[in-house]
Amino acid sequence: MTTPEPRYVSGLKCVRCSAEFPLTRTRYICDKCGSNLQVEYDYDAIRKSWPREKLQADLDRSIWRYAPLYPVSSKIPSPPIGWTPLFQAPQLASKLGLQSLFIKDDGRNPSASFKDRASAIALLRARETGFDLVTGASTGNAASSTAVLAAAMNIRTRIFIPKTAPRAKVAQLLAFGAEVLAVDGTYDQAFDLCLAATQRFGWYNRNTGYNPYTREGKKSVSFEICEQLNWQVPDLVVVPVGDGNIISGVWKGFHDFHKLGFIDRLPRLLAVQAEHSDAIVRALETDGQIRPVSGQTVADSISVSLPRDGEAAVQAVRASKGFGIRVSDDEILQAILAVARGAAVFGEPAGVTSYAGLRKAVDQRLVDPRWSIVVLVTGNGLKDIASVMKISGEPRLVSPDAGKLEEIFGAKR
Ligand SMILES: Cc1ncc(COP(=O)(O)O)c(C=O)c1O
Ligand SMILES: [Zn+2]
Repeated sequence: MTTPEPRYVSGLKCVRCSAEFPLTRTRYICDKCGSNLQVEYDYDAIRKSWPREKLQADLDRSIWRYAPLYPVSSKIPSPPIGWTPLFQAPQLASKLGLQSLFIKDDGRNPSASFKDRASAIALLRARETGFDLVTGASTGNAASSTAVLAAAMNIRTRIFIPKTAPRAKVAQLLAFGAEVLAVDGTYDQAFDLCLAATQRFGWYNRNTGYNPYTREGKKSVSFEICEQLNWQVPDLVVVPVGDGNIISGVWKGFHDFHKLGFIDRLPRLLAVQAEHSDAIVRALETDGQIRPVSGQTVADSISVSLPRDGEAAVQAVRASKGFGIRVSDDEILQAILAVARGAAVFGEPAGVTSYAGLRKAVDQRLVDPRWSIVVLVTGNGLKDIASVMKISGEPRLVSPDAGKLEEIFGAKR
């Protein structure tokens, strides 16, 4: 038994050739050119039945308050996803000489990363179209998020990860009952293996930048930013970028609200990548074409050779009149400490790559200090403590002997 198709979806449209397709059970990519698809809505119909006042009166504080803008007709009642805190970071703002700096802490989602927004919609789509087994390849966060929400929905999962994924993410997967396939290779190889398995066995595939519904969940972050800033659209939204699906989702969210007339302007987007995992930044700086790079970086979540949603990401940044910037691994690790000490938020390396990029963009005078700026922190620091220990140093070993305290601290208090 499958649920009826969502009311307001008008179809799927290719991001490259604009070919249009109806919403069908297992369509992922464009039949004509093989590129990614975007979900299209009947905005006139949404506007008529869902004015801004109706949204504002809704007491739900989760991604489900935006239900008319999703390609699904049901919800996951628990655990709560989204509506993560957006708050001022005055110490960081003054350090960078900025007037208005906000952090959106998406590490506070159920699986401790932004990816829950995407997994929620993709998993519901799977269930609503009659699947009970979902597969996916991931650097770790999409995987652990799929495992958490699949547990809540009683769906089986087969997850492919690179064997180098941080242990905490692997522990999450195992704890939540996923069948974990640790691939002796890179994320890109895990991705291709997962695709081959999907084609061979007919499972539901949730891969980032392949499944068109992940972007639809990720866009919820922009809806929240608009509401949390009392409908004042920020001037700049700073996003850590790997496959490019978060940033294309961020843009889609602002685009949807703009189409509905809920907001009257759009923000610029700043795409931040690690310096050897910078295929999207390279494309932005040149002819817009995505070409593979080494993908090597300490920030495992954005370690990508060939970004799978690169085309849509480049379109999003260009349409926003934004730009891209690359940061070194050392700048990423330094950003963990800066965000922890300056804003009391513990982010994983990829999670704070956004801040590293903002800092660099400020140094290069690419940012107007009067802008209102939102930095997305996309994953919690506890997911990868080995990386933070590379920069934080070790604690001082002392003997449990009160008589030796003066020896440790000297005579002074
Ligand atoms: C914490 C974190 N930040 C950023 C990203 C990058 O998102 P995308 O690959 O959609 O660009 C990811 C993706 O895995 C992530 O887990
Ligand atoms: Zn196409």
